[in-house]
Amino acid sequence: MQHRVGVEALALAVPHRFLDLEDLARARGIDPAKFTQGLGAKQMAVPDPGEDAPALAATAAKRALAASGIDVSRIGMVIVGTETGVDHSKAVASYVQGMLKLPRTVRTFDTQHACYGATAALHTAAQWIASGASHGKAALVVGADLARYGLKTVGEPTQGGGAVAMVVSDSPDLLELDFGVSGVDSLDVHDFWRPVGRREALVDGHYSIRCYLDALTASYTDWKQQALSRELVRKGDTLVSEQLARIAYHVPFCKMARKAHAQLRRVDLQERRGGKAWDEQAEAEEAPKLAASFETQVAPTLPISARVGNAYTASLYLGIASMLNLQAPSLVGKRVGLFSYGSGCTSEFFSAVVADKAVARIAAANIEDILAARERIDVEEYERLMGLASDAPLPTAPAPGTFRLEKIQEGRRIYAAG
Ligand code: HMG
Repeated sequence: MQHRVGVEALALAVPHRFLDLEDLARARGIDPAKFTQGLGAKQMAVPDPGEDAPALAATAAKRALAASGIDVSRIGMVIVGTETGVDHSKAVASYVQGMLKLPRTVRTFDTQHACYGATAALHTAAQWIASGASHGKAALVVGADLARYGLKTVGEPTQGGGAVAMVVSDSPDLLELDFGVSGVDSLDVHDFWRPVGRREALVDGHYSIRCYLDALTASYTDWKQQALSRELVRKGDTLVSEQLARIAYHVPFCKMARKAHAQLRRVDLQERRGGKAWDEQAEAEEAPKLAASFETQVAPTLPISARVGNAYTASLYLGIASMLNLQAPSLVGKRVGLFSYGSGCTSEFFSAVVADKAVARIAAANIEDILAARERIDVEEYERLMGLASDAPLPTAPAPGTFRLEKIQEGRRIYAAG
């Protein structure tokens, strides 16, 4: 049975300061090209302790509700995907409900599996709606995270943070999911992890890239089989991956999307070669086609990530926001591929069609204004902010329309609204 379900509106929130990665490279005695070309990154968001996951989640959620114009009495579920929650028991979703003064008739909970959490939330919401159990209500789905590896670590240039909130409903004005067509792959690995009590993540960086690419291969192959049998794509002269107008990948750093796209095409090309080994000649023939296809299918998904860095659960959804912000008018009616990866690891490749109200909906998210309002800081200020205790928020008033952590009293977090 076919179901109409997907994203009705989307909005984002980002920390209000950022660091230019060329400044960071120079301070660390590294060639800036390693960060800008090698990792494909320009800037990274630098949160202060007042900009925690609940504050960013609530700010994004408030904007998403405004962008959709939905009456809050229609929200029946709030799910926050996060791996930087603030309490072992109380959900970030509960803080969001409080800050937004949502009715008591909502189900609130968080989902966690590294960067995959928001995708788990999105599919949970979509299935609740498609099942009919929602009785016409919508869900508020948020991905909110702060990526923190620490000063002078290998992961330092891949930090960042932000939140994306989506109203998920049976009126998918922005993006309609190909409901029920989805490839998954999971494996118990230690590529990236953050034991309870640690503020900084631990990572086996190069191994994590391998795990990501293996997961992409398996989940894309799974999706492709289902998409072919549902006739969303066809075997023929055009590669299956080329039949997707755009592909947004999970973006821990922008170069990862380039590696992912090369791998995705290799899966299609290997199949076409009938299992014949991939060799240098095949790689040379593929290089110009890969470059062209990357520019068309993937580059438009990267501008926001290049400016805020890794936002873990929000990262894939920043890619969707980037692509629609740049190109919504030419994407209406077209199918896009989406890849979500969470270290540990689990992954999902799924797809969706850009809906006819996408142009107006993405304009309502005011993405350029939000990014332009940020302040550039120098490395000294970045290091000072990184050194602040997470439970000692700066006494800064929240900007209009945003939320900030104001204080913590006996573990109770108190937020201020601007
Ligand atoms: P590294 O060892 O600092 O960097 O680690 P490198 O030596 O591998 O160099 C990186 C690239 O820069 C290479 O390009 C170099 O050639 C190039 P590549 O071979 O990859 O194409 N390079 C230069 N280019 C131009 N000019 C130069 C120059 N020098 C070198 N002068 C690493 C990089 C990403 C591993 C590290 O930053 C890290 O560990 N980051 C954190 C982990 C991560 O992001 N993993 C990604 C996959 S896992 C994932 O996505 C999940 C995650 O989001 C968490 C979650 O799920 O919650 C992380």
